[in-house]
Amino acid sequence: MGGVVDGGMARRFWIKFRNESVFAIYSPFVICLASGVLDSDSFLYFVSQDVHFLKAFAQAYELAEEYADDDEDKIAIRELRKGVLKKLKVHDTLVREWGFELPKESTLDNAAVNYTDFLLATASGKVEGEKFPGKIATPFEKTKLAAYTLGAIAPCMRLYAFISKEIQALLDPDDSDHIYKKYIDSLSSQKFEAAALQIEDLLDKLSISLTGEELEVIEKLYHQAMKLEVDFFSAQPNVQQTIAPFSRAHDPREHNLTIFSDFDMTFTAIDSSALLAEIAIMTAPKADLNGCETHLARMSSVDLRTTWSILSSQYTEEYEQCIESILPSETAEGFNYEGLCKALEQLSHFEKAANSRVIQSGVLKGLNLEDIKRAGEHLILQEGCRGFFQEIVKDEHWKTDVHVLSYCWCGDLIRSAFLSDLNVLNVHSNELDYKESITTGEIIKKVESPMEKLQAFNDVLKGCSNDGKHLTIYIGGSVGDLLCLLKADVGIVIGSSSSLRRLGDQFGISFVPLFSGLVKKQRELKEGGGSSNWKGLSGILYTVSSWAEIHAFILGS
Ligand SMILES: *[C@@H]1O[C@H](CO)[C@@H](O)[C@H](O)[C@H]1NC(C)=O
Ligand SMILES: *[C@@H]1O[C@H](CO)[C@@H](O)[C@H](O)[C@H]1NC(C)=O
Repeated sequence: MGGVVDGGMARRFWIKFRNESVFAIYSPFVICLASGVLDSDSFLYFVSQDVHFLKAFAQAYELAEEYADDDEDKIAIRELRKGVLKKLKVHDTLVREWGFELPKESTLDNAAVNYTDFLLATASGKVEGEKFPGKIATPFEKTKLAAYTLGAIAPCMRLYAFISKEIQALLDPDDSDHIYKKYIDSLSSQKFEAAALQIEDLLDKLSISLTGEELEVIEKLYHQAMKLEVDFFSAQPNVQQTIAPFSRAHDPREHNLTIFSDFDMTFTAIDSSALLAEIAIMTAPKADLNGCETHLARMSSVDLRTTWSILSSQYTEEYEQCIESILPSETAEGFNYEGLCKALEQLSHFEKAANSRVIQSGVLKGLNLEDIKRAGEHLILQEGCRGFFQEIVKDEHWKTDVHVLSYCWCGDLIRSAFLSDLNVLNVHSNELDYKESITTGEIIKKVESPMEKLQAFNDVLKGCSNDGKHLTIYIGGSVGDLLCLLKADVGIVIGSSSSLRRLGDQFGISFVPLFSGLVKKQRELKEGGGSSNWKGLSGILYTVSSWAEIHAFILGS
């Protein structure tokens, strides 16, 4: 995003609430705008709301200027207000320059009103949890209100700047067919960025003398403003048929949907094998005190730590070597699924050998099922992941099946992570072997390799219609997921596995950022007469950097 002073409060808030902005980016309105196929009535409805926003800004600045104590601040706010008034004056001309003519009458948008009402309430001191009975008394309290007001404006400007830059990055500079190019250029201009920055700098400056509690109020106002702005984008009426949200673009009466996801590092923030090793080490006896051997005798925690460390570095090293050895020296001309399958068969041998080594080492011996379950229940999942699945399994219309496919050694660990609220998720993984709730050190092998993951994927879909009516989405991030990612109608890559990217590149897979993929598909949707055409084995995988993107794409806001 650039620009905003490092460590400044405005920047901190923007980063903190960045995931919300994703819902604006993936809104039908923005996708259609970006792809250039938005119908001009929808566009004009949208830009005609600018007038209401600008009027509210002007009013809010007027109040803020009065509140500000410092002359320099007063001047800065006055300049901002002047800028807004000037924009109001030339708004019609601007729209004409972008190539459109505003209608004489404009309807006031409900979501726009929600934001402007909130802004003006804030600017007149009606802030939740704050008391300004009657007239605001001290100059100090007034300064605080100026900061609150700026806090409710800053995210709005930043969001527009951010969205337009995301769109502009996808535009061909020479594309004269894109009818919204001039509009997007103006929003992503240096001038617009400078204005957004100016507001953020001023917000930072006005907040310097505030207490922790008051800063929390600003954070809440910033967040609320951001949400209302995102709502404004999401709730744009009458936007034509869109590719997203996926669940709205398809009719549950005509389609079934199955979602598959990997577990380690896709759901979780840490690797489950490391977690199991940690449980083993934490619960092991400190040392072999009496040397008494039973059939479940355990290694001491010191020995376990050493053994685990050797095993895991050997795995990492040999994994890299294995990937090197299966990478073809020449990049494929096109998507080469067969070649990839052959290469991954060699990786399968390696994965199986690695698991056998773990069994033989005895590190998985003597773990208590209760300890494993407790660790599972406390497992920290990736931000936004739980919320997404909670919503998708709740959805009455879609009745989506969700399957978790994992190399994890212990299905109980996964199931206990889902116990509280996601127990409807189907788990396909290996299992640890127990004797009276204590692990024997054996793994009951089910899903050890890319081939076996694909097998599990195919097994789930056995008997499902093959007529394009059964849609599949696979979300994963490791080489083990590649075949399933490719086989699914929509393969979404999360995380940043470099081996996955390298293998993919060599076998002719295209990695496309999801938003840009959707913008392209939206264009094709128009050209292709309205059918969205998600199909497996296309050789295209979509990349995302957060679960918020997946949520926004599939369910919308
Ligand atoms: C405006 O706010 C009201 C009250 O919070 C809410 O019910 C409504 O859905 C909002 N309208 C839009 C279009 O977001
Ligand atoms: C969806 O799945 C249900 C249950 O398996 C089946 O009865 C129905 O025919 C499927 N619908 C479509 C459109 O394939």
